[in-house]
Amino acid sequence: NRDKLIQDISQQEEFPFRFEDWEQKAKETMEEGAFAYVYHGAGSEETYYRNQSAFKKWALIPRMLRDVSQIDMSIHLFGKKYTTPFLLAPIGMQKLANGEGELATAKAAESLDIPFIVSTVSSYSMEAIANVAPKGPKWFQLYWSSHNTELSFSMVERAENAGYEAIVLTVDTVMAGWRIGDMKSKFSPLSLGYGKGNYMEDPIFLDNLENHEEETILESILDNIQHPGLTWDAIAQLKKRTKLPILIKGILHPEDAKLALEYSVDGLIVSNHGGRQLDGVIASIDALPEVIKAVDGKIPVLFDSGVRQGIDAVKALALGAKAVLIGRPYYYGLAVHGEKGVRNVMERLIQETEVTLALSGISQLSDVSNIAIKKDL
Ligand code: FNR
Repeated sequence: NRDKLIQDISQQEEFPFRFEDWEQKAKETMEEGAFAYVYHGAGSEETYYRNQSAFKKWALIPRMLRDVSQIDMSIHLFGKKYTTPFLLAPIGMQKLANGEGELATAKAAESLDIPFIVSTVSSYSMEAIANVAPKGPKWFQLYWSSHNTELSFSMVERAENAGYEAIVLTVDTVMAGWRIGDMKSKFSPLSLGYGKGNYMEDPIFLDNLENHEEETILESILDNIQHPGLTWDAIAQLKKRTKLPILIKGILHPEDAKLALEYSVDGLIVSNHGGRQLDGVIASIDALPEVIKAVDGKIPVLFDSGVRQGIDAVKALALGAKAVLIGRPYYYGLAVHGEKGVRNVMERLIQETEVTLALSGISQLSDVSNIAIKKDL
């Protein structure tokens, strides 16, 4: 019963409605450097702001007099059905937000049947995260190791064994973006410590290192995030080592989308990393239509960067995205109210998306292309 659900949600006064209010509360809750690390984009933050303002240039033209008493938002991805078109984007080091970190996020995601994409640089081990939410769908985000391909493969193998259902290879992080905020505050999440009780309890790389000196570990973590030498050849290698579907995250150019098809990639995520990597790039939503055209329905195209409300998600879906990843909004939910916060942010987003679809005359998400969407009216 939608009305009842919306009424219940509105009565939870400790939870704000708007993204900006969650953001403000997270700012009050988190340590200053940690908040700035999450909040800011790279460079002059041109892309960070463009991601959000670009949504406002796209306008829906809804359909009327269609029965919308039941809304089915389910999607199929890689042979599995999910109840909503949402996923939780990979965000590293979630202990910066809340002591339970990814464990809380995984539990919230499980309760909503939302796939959680677990980052290579999570605060908890991928097995620990899988154990607290055994029924929740989980994907593993891989940062390819520059120096140690076997280490990358060992992570993929661990992910397979722990029940992860897809591998997301992030390719827009050949090196860290020019993040002025972090340089100013001298903040690096990687320097906060590792090992039990620390921000990174179980660095994935620890087992593979002979020397456990702090410097070696930090260096190894960096090696695993940055991979300036990475090329399409890595995809071919990865394909041979796993049967799991492989998605590439961070594609903006339609020619790269075509190359992905040549390399038999199973899915794409159009993303500019929330404006944290290359500043000055196209808004993610503006890059989506050309990628969709290049892919021509051959593989699913997912989307992230700048989604703050249900209407943003519906615009991405109407432009052809199969599903939408939520980033900062759930992270702020985690910072303010832990597992409950993540659940609340996502529940409201789901409800708002449902209302948006209904008012657009869409009862089945698979018909979402029936809504027209126009640029810059
Ligand atoms: C990220 N993102 C990210 N992506 C990834 O592939 N691996 C990672 O470890 C991280 N870590 C990370 C940390 C923080 C603090 C943020 C904000 C983002 C990028 C993330 O998956 C997603 O692309 C963006 O968050 C989308 O932008 P918005 O919608 O959050 O602005």
